[in-house]
Amino acid sequence: MVRGIWPSDSGNCRAPRRVSNSNSKKNMKIIHSFSVGSTLPAVFPVYVFGKKLKAAGGGLSSELLDEARDNGFTGKSGTLTLLPRSDRGVKSKTLLAGLGKREDADGNTLRLAAAAVVRHSIEAALPRVQFVLPDLPADQTISGTQAVAEGALLGSYCFDAFKSQKGPRPGLREFVIVSPKSPGAKGAARRGEVVGKAVNFARDLINRPPSDKRPAVLASLARTMAGGGVSVRVYGKSDLKRLGAYALLGVNRGSAHPPALVHFHYRPAGKAKGSVAFVGKGVTFDSGGLSLKPADGMMTMKYDMAGAATVFALFQALPQLKPSVEVHGVAVLTENMPGPDAYKPGDVVKAMNGKTIEVLNTDAEGRVILADALVFASRLKTDSIIDVATLTGAATVALGKAYAALMSNNSDLGQALLSAGDRAGEKLWSLPLEKSYLDHIQSKVADFKNIGNPGEAGTIIGGLFLQQFAGEGAWAHVDMASVGWNGNGSLLSPPGATGALVRTFLMFVMDIR
Ligand code: BES
Ligand code: ZN
Ligand code: ZN
Repeated sequence: MVRGIWPSDSGNCRAPRRVSNSNSKKNMKIIHSFSVGSTLPAVFPVYVFGKKLKAAGGGLSSELLDEARDNGFTGKSGTLTLLPRSDRGVKSKTLLAGLGKREDADGNTLRLAAAAVVRHSIEAALPRVQFVLPDLPADQTISGTQAVAEGALLGSYCFDAFKSQKGPRPGLREFVIVSPKSPGAKGAARRGEVVGKAVNFARDLINRPPSDKRPAVLASLARTMAGGGVSVRVYGKSDLKRLGAYALLGVNRGSAHPPALVHFHYRPAGKAKGSVAFVGKGVTFDSGGLSLKPADGMMTMKYDMAGAATVFALFQALPQLKPSVEVHGVAVLTENMPGPDAYKPGDVVKAMNGKTIEVLNTDAEGRVILADALVFASRLKTDSIIDVATLTGAATVALGKAYAALMSNNSDLGQALLSAGDRAGEKLWSLPLEKSYLDHIQSKVADFKNIGNPGEAGTIIGGLFLQQFAGEGAWAHVDMASVGWNGNGSLLSPPGATGALVRTFLMFVMDIR
């Protein structure tokens, strides 16, 4: 176990190839300002209008924009250019950030622009930079300010906790968001910072090597997160036996390390406007068990706890966002290993509600441990339950890497999640919980088997299986196997863990009022 860097070492990366003289370990700060400072490097967003570029917030001459365009700057979303000379009023460096066509631009366009600015600033060793928000209607100024703060934090992320050669930290210390006088913009910048940091926290947990985040390690981390309205209770192996969580205990049998179930509980200061429980799959490493994965399929399986990491991240943010809703979090943690006592194809395990599961493929372990976690959550009697899991490789086959798969027994809940995802800049797509496919998981010896027909609707089968343990209330299942990991990286995320769905779920919780 590597010591001294746990729990979190996120924050902006060292600029590659560049030696700066700042040795600070401090993360970048988000600051909100109502006016443009004349001495700081300033970024002005620009829209594309036909062949012309237009400053989204005014303040730049059309000659200057024409010149930038003639120099090859297209204004496409996510692109940046440094102006060769500055304009009136702005003495220091001026950058243009492309937002693309105005009619296509949304909050995510601003996230991308802010991330591009942060990446450039780190490369260019700028200690401070100011981002001038475009002229928008009041409500969009608020959501836009939050989006810019989120994008800045996401763009600053780097996982170098395990590099021996860290070198000096980059110089970017302050990211100033300039938005017109709109009461509430300051709060929005702060919220964006909290949300961005929560996403980066999830990324830290997911990127961390599997042997450095076994259930006991994550459970200890969870205990340190209590406070600010959050209580934390950890159920260890003996507690789980007492509860009858033999599905989780069954999966754990092949591992040398005991499982844990972490229960987070956030209570708002005033009367709660409602309640929700989030349940996250936390397989800290998925070898497949005796139904062993091939070497290639195992390389990224440290991300099989991304659902649990999402839950952890929510509870880092909630005490600061202070929603008026009661929120439970259940993170179910175990390795899936082929150790000497491993559960075997043909074994039958009994979940906490007494239902039995015939295990025909030990690699379909996520649904088995979530069976117990969902029974646990259903006993909390919340208005709704949302589980999030890297459940099936088939999710990527169905939707590719841009969409998470959503399944729900309640159309209002499903819609609310789609809408939250839309505003958070994360894509979800609904799949049907087709009842007739329940036949596929009928077992000859137990109540259910843990796999369906080969090649047939694998993601839906996963959802249908979980539904059997979620109770009768409103429930949604988000299969994040497709979106939790990005081997190529993007503007908002370096290669590796994406921290997907933290933004969507925080948006969902903040919506309930
Ligand atoms: N953790 C995997 C799902 C997964 C695969 C996540 C690839 C991310 C990337 C899960 O436990 C699993 O192995 N599922 C099986 C189910 C099958 C045996 C029915 C799968 O997807 O192949
Ligand atoms: Zn598996
Ligand atoms: Zn798995």
